[in-house]
Amino acid sequence: MHQKAATILQFFRQQGGFVSGEQLSRELGVSRTAVWKHISALRAAGYQVDAYPSRGYRLLSSPDILAAEEISVQLDTAIIGKRLVNLALTASTNTHAFRLAEEGAVEGTVVTADEQNKGKGRLGRIWSSPPGANLYCSVILRPQIKPFEAPQLTFLSAVAVARAIEQAFGLKPEIKWPNDVLIDGKKVAGLLNEMSAETDGINFVILGIGVNLNMTADQFPGDLRHPATSLYIEGGVKVGRARFTALLLNELDRLYAGFLDHGFAQVRREWQERCNAGGREVLVSNYLSADIRGQFAGIDSDGALLVQCPDGTIERILSGDVRVL
Ligand code: BTN
Repeated sequence: MHQKAATILQFFRQQGGFVSGEQLSRELGVSRTAVWKHISALRAAGYQVDAYPSRGYRLLSSPDILAAEEISVQLDTAIIGKRLVNLALTASTNTHAFRLAEEGAVEGTVVTADEQNKGKGRLGRIWSSPPGANLYCSVILRPQIKPFEAPQLTFLSAVAVARAIEQAFGLKPEIKWPNDVLIDGKKVAGLLNEMSAETDGINFVILGIGVNLNMTADQFPGDLRHPATSLYIEGGVKVGRARFTALLLNELDRLYAGFLDHGFAQVRREWQERCNAGGREVLVSNYLSADIRGQFAGIDSDGALLVQCPDGTIERILSGDVRVL
């Protein structure tokens, strides 16, 4: 978006009613014809703007787009969202963010896309990413932690997603180990973190976050392994993608600041409170060893799942599928 068009939007929002062409032309330092051109560009981008010769212009509605200008006005962050990059179409926001990070992008850079045509899920799976409906977002972080501590950031992003969903929809999401966010047992968000590291330190981490916001039932692929849903299907209301993104980035920023200052304990506590297995019996299957049945006993600082077996021993589980019994 042109900087002048973004400034016009700011005026509309500050003033809340009509803004005269003359005032805009004065404030922006451009001719009234130029103002009119920027208004036309805003309209072409989906903004509904009223125009009356005697009163000026008025913003009636904004489109559901992820433009940086739409997100940044709602941000209240110290680190996350310092730079916002929005793409119409990309293979994967994680791949794009990874490249930017290698080129030196500042910590807190956020890449969003309207659509991904090679959205990446965990374990090499595809993340279905139709245009205009959901949030596909990748955040570049440069924490001074050891590579083995990096999974802690995936838990942190799961907590941030859960908080944002709670605020936007009043729904009560649960987290399923390792990091699926569920509503009523169905997956609504997934996280895929990637990192670049040396043996003793991290260059950067990419927090990849996909949230099914306004997707409708017919947009889900037919061959899903686990039940999935969207917040629109569950809550019955569509949420503005920029608004949700800002809520999420605000929560991420708060949690990340706490993590840098005080470590993983707070995130771990909240993650455990929100975990669907809290205080329950679980069955863990993986393809390498026999199933493990026992009581959920939390996660450790490496992000491993802890299960207390009937004989009292604690099993540390690094991968597998957890079913709550
Ligand atoms: C999962 O399998 O649960 C993880 C899904 C992660 C999807 C998000 S969408 C934004 C980012 N870009 C990607 O290609 N993947 C992540």
